[in-house]
Amino acid sequence: MRTPLPSFLRVSISLLLTAICGFTFAAAQTAPRPNPQLASKEVNARVEALLKQMTLDEKVEQLAQFSAGVATGPGANNLRYDELAARGEVGSMLNVVGVEATNHYQHLAMEKSRLRIPILFGLDVIHGHRTTFPIPLALAASWDSSAVETVARIGAIEARADGIPWVFSPMVDIARDPRWGRIIESAGEDPYLGSAMARAWVKGYQQDDLSKPDSVAVSVKHYAAYGAAIAGREYNAVDMGEITLRQVYLEPYRAAVEAGAATLMSSFNSINGIPASANSLTLTKILRNEWGFDGFVVSDWGAVAELRNHSIGADDATVARKALEAGVDMDMEGNLFGTVIAPQVRAGKIPESVVDEAVRRILRVKFALGLFDHPYTAEGPAYDATPERRAAARKIASETFVLLKNDPVEGVGTLLPITAKAKKVALIGPMADNHVEMLGAWSGASNPKYVVTLRSALAERLGDRLLYAEGCGLLSGKDANLVDGRDRNAPIPDDSKTIAEAVDTAKKADVAILALGEPTGAMEGEGGSRAHLGFTGAQQKLLEAVAATGKPVILIVLAGRPLEIKWAANHVPAILYAWSPGIEAGHALADVLFGDVNPSGKLPASLPRAVGQEPLYYAQLPTGRPAHGDLSHMPLTGDERTVSRYLDEENSALYPFGWGLSYTRFSYSQPTVTGPEVPLREVLASGHTPGVPTDRSSSVGWKPVATVGVDVKNTGSVAGIEVVQLYVRNTAASVEQPVRELKGFARITLAPGETKHVDFPLSFDELNFYNAEIHRTVEPTIYKVWVGGSSSATAETSLAVVE
Ligand code: NOJ
Repeated sequence: MRTPLPSFLRVSISLLLTAICGFTFAAAQTAPRPNPQLASKEVNARVEALLKQMTLDEKVEQLAQFSAGVATGPGANNLRYDELAARGEVGSMLNVVGVEATNHYQHLAMEKSRLRIPILFGLDVIHGHRTTFPIPLALAASWDSSAVETVARIGAIEARADGIPWVFSPMVDIARDPRWGRIIESAGEDPYLGSAMARAWVKGYQQDDLSKPDSVAVSVKHYAAYGAAIAGREYNAVDMGEITLRQVYLEPYRAAVEAGAATLMSSFNSINGIPASANSLTLTKILRNEWGFDGFVVSDWGAVAELRNHSIGADDATVARKALEAGVDMDMEGNLFGTVIAPQVRAGKIPESVVDEAVRRILRVKFALGLFDHPYTAEGPAYDATPERRAAARKIASETFVLLKNDPVEGVGTLLPITAKAKKVALIGPMADNHVEMLGAWSGASNPKYVVTLRSALAERLGDRLLYAEGCGLLSGKDANLVDGRDRNAPIPDDSKTIAEAVDTAKKADVAILALGEPTGAMEGEGGSRAHLGFTGAQQKLLEAVAATGKPVILIVLAGRPLEIKWAANHVPAILYAWSPGIEAGHALADVLFGDVNPSGKLPASLPRAVGQEPLYYAQLPTGRPAHGDLSHMPLTGDERTVSRYLDEENSALYPFGWGLSYTRFSYSQPTVTGPEVPLREVLASGHTPGVPTDRSSSVGWKPVATVGVDVKNTGSVAGIEVVQLYVRNTAASVEQPVRELKGFARITLAPGETKHVDFPLSFDELNFYNAEIHRTVEPTIYKVWVGGSSSATAETSLAVVE
């Protein structure tokens, strides 16, 4: 499943090949398109032949998508879907799941409608379909592209078996504010990590060949910049300069498009006053003209109709026209494209060529997927969480856990891994035996019955040495019953009583494991913005009460966002951040708690000290008055005050991006750089060959100009995996650049005492920035370079770009 040799080692070995291949491809390609299937002559000839036969009404019907299953947005119209399908009036349906249901509508479309155009069924397959894997934010914490590919692959196979050839995934929004609940679906705060994950998702789902019977087309969402909602409030406006938009927020979308993504989903938010679902800058200029995208764009749920609320048009006809002309091709559950576009074409307000182009894009994907030739799905055996899928879910989940701290406790030593010395273990907390919450906020077609909880996995290992108390619910008081799986009319539980019981349980044990978090379905995902980021309900009280017993505490945080856990960081010796781990949650956690698996996850998003720091991310832009010295107290002098700082909190993260410990330790050599000076013209000519599928794990199409090398040694006594990270800072550019930016990483396995050399090739792609004219460029400068195990790495070198 996972390639043992880190990608960058492979790349460095084939440095010479890289250069040769880069040149060869550059010479051979003329204006290549990112997805050769969508650009192919065969597919486009079939599209044109069909388009010629279509009436205007048949064309606009292709632009309509309806939800005919469990609604995933407000106001689903209860239309007569059978009639729509039979008349060919629906290009796509969402939320129809299963062979029987999808075949039912497909038979109507293929046998009754005039042109027999197959319906494209789409669904939210976010972190697995039937087999639930960890949430995408957790997968990003693995920094393991091959794990993401596996999740996408299994999701695609299961989706196809359920009649779904199109998934609304991956979500590649940069998320720098955990108040925004949809951070769970993202890869976190960083464009470089986010782009690597985006490529892996696309590859796993589409396999570079949409026509394979187990490939699904992706819908990369939510285009664009949805994650930058002001104040982390869901559906809020986004306001940022075009440089940040492109350099940070659009990068993962670009990576996904370059990897061949077949479709994108336009988002709910506005960007600098222009709604993303009517934004010709992002939908046409950038996506189509600059990136060469040949697929189609579907709006998010009702986003076309909601343009009225954005006040960019007084009526349906106007907003629908604006969306279509800007580059939205399909209207999700809005019913506007299907009704108000054709009359405007007839009235001469919209050129028919605009409709033709949208239809072309949609038909291309349908042809490339092979739907015209194989519209139906064969009945297969009922889903089973097979041992193979369970094994994949378990292994991948164990890679996503981040060990935040593991301080020694007097007289005991480090608490993790748990040793035989712990005769009795008290497991406490509302996440400890909770099936439904392990699945995460968007587990779609999965089932809690497949979940192994932490309690059952620990019982397998400890038998009657395991004590258990729930301690409290995830919410308390009047909200107590608002979490998934609880009866809303049940009596409100008395937290002080259950906390007292938990304290008694802890007193009987040698060590207490607390499994705390926030309710995933109730408080995370879409519509899941929070103004406070602490543990929900009475969990903080529970934690403090158990810690007050004096028993050593191991805290496991199960949450889909960075929570504010400052008290825990100051009072609890061992903390494991475990996200929402999926069906094998319990086994994967036990594997790490007992040391069968050495933790290797690294934070994909900074953990704040206080909510007031948000949005908090490591790649800050510089300030004229940078903070320095000890910020842990009020300023004592004017000089201490007049810097960029908070008076009542430190600037830094509680745990920074890239942070994560292991049961072993790693040391880094002084990094070296080949040719510490490189000529500008060489840098400008380097990088990936435009249009050659960008896969940084292979040397094809990549021409570096310098290589940063470092030796990493396992200085501890057990084997471990380290995610080696490379950061750069451009110290003299015409547009100021972040104080650090991730530009490379490699996951390496080291035996005790073993040393490995890791190379990070650098090229235009890693070194460029957008200048004031909005062109990607490199100028003469010095790059500071750091290599280490987190964004606070200290081992430093530099690279100069000279005239
Ligand atoms: C709204 C969500 O924003 C989007 O992520 C999802 O794919 C669609 N609804 C369809 O369910």
